[in-house]
Amino acid sequence: MDIIELDINDSSAVEQWFIATQKVRVHDIPDFPESTLECELKGLRHPWPGNREELWLAVENGNVVGYFQLSLPILDNLSNVEVDLCVLPERRRRGIGRALYAKAVERARANDRTTMIAMAPETLPGTGIVRDDAGNAFAAAMGAKRVHEDVRRRWEADSISEVDIRAQLTEAWKHAAGYELVTWRERVPDNLVESQAYLDSRLVKDAPMGGLAWEPENFDVARVRAGEEVAAARGRRQFAAGIVHSETGRLAAYTVIGMDGGTDWHGWQLITIADPDHRGHRLGTIVKLENVLFARSMWPELWVVDTWNAAVNQHMISINEAMGFRKMETWVNWQQKI
Ligand code: ACO
Repeated sequence: MDIIELDINDSSAVEQWFIATQKVRVHDIPDFPESTLECELKGLRHPWPGNREELWLAVENGNVVGYFQLSLPILDNLSNVEVDLCVLPERRRRGIGRALYAKAVERARANDRTTMIAMAPETLPGTGIVRDDAGNAFAAAMGAKRVHEDVRRRWEADSISEVDIRAQLTEAWKHAAGYELVTWRERVPDNLVESQAYLDSRLVKDAPMGGLAWEPENFDVARVRAGEEVAAARGRRQFAAGIVHSETGRLAAYTVIGMDGGTDWHGWQLITIADPDHRGHRLGTIVKLENVLFARSMWPELWVVDTWNAAVNQHMISINEAMGFRKMETWVNWQQKI
């Protein structure tokens, strides 16, 4: 077996890698949306700002049997590297994962990284959904430490009626005098971009991170705009709802749903944040509910939204569950000093 870096101009290798990602998805998380080669290729060509990526393939007799992708932060978290490592379901338990992991460690060290972070799905009792827990057994066998848990929850358009959404909104808005709703698609309005950058910089400080060694990320206007340009280049549609504090004109809370180019029914819940200075006004509830109404008014086929929350983030979880999000599985964060 050879482990070689993917050349994104090698269309045959890219296609084999893409087919492998879809086989892994069908085995491990079959309810994730299908992607398309075109969409994944755009992702390879347009990494998120602040990140450099490497993608390596395990090749046996000319066939891709596994792969790993390293995400190397280049603006902050310079000691960290995230790894996404997978082996074809029919080729597991033959040492391919172990060989890929050793290569990932070698590449992480070559990039001066000292902390490797990865996530793996785990069955969450009570959901009725069974996941292949191989990733967690594998991470433990590699010597990584379980440091944090997220839970994925899923919202479906028929989880809650529009009448109930509007009733929750009417109640929540009673607590939000002096605030106004604003919605936008792919580009935050110029008068709000600086306060969005401020909120983006707060996220890692404010959200529970358990034992994850992840330092706060610094966003400025240029980084926000660069992120929007990359999202557009990747073909991602975005729907955002924000709350403006009328007195200062600043964004006090906002949330975004992103739909990847390869799907017309599925959205990822991206950031949701309320400025600590403006808590206690139900702003988190309002932006979440207003945004599903906004997104579906813009894109009626949007039926499903997936969100991840720290298992201990009770405030966000109670907002999500009240609007109909239901548990799917745990995502264990693994961390290793290398
Ligand atoms: N049950 C118990 N132990 C396991 C299992 C399992 N299903 N799978 C791997 N291990 C452990 C064993 O100790 C194994 O050694 P052994 O076979 O000598 O007992 C060791 O991990 C190495 O196993 P490999 O054969 O090298 O791993 P494999 O090629 O099967 O790939 C992988 C493992 C990558 C986890 C695969 O199951 C997969 O693609 N899962 C889905 C994606 C995923 O969860 N990725 C891992 C994220 S965590 C991380 O990267 C640190």
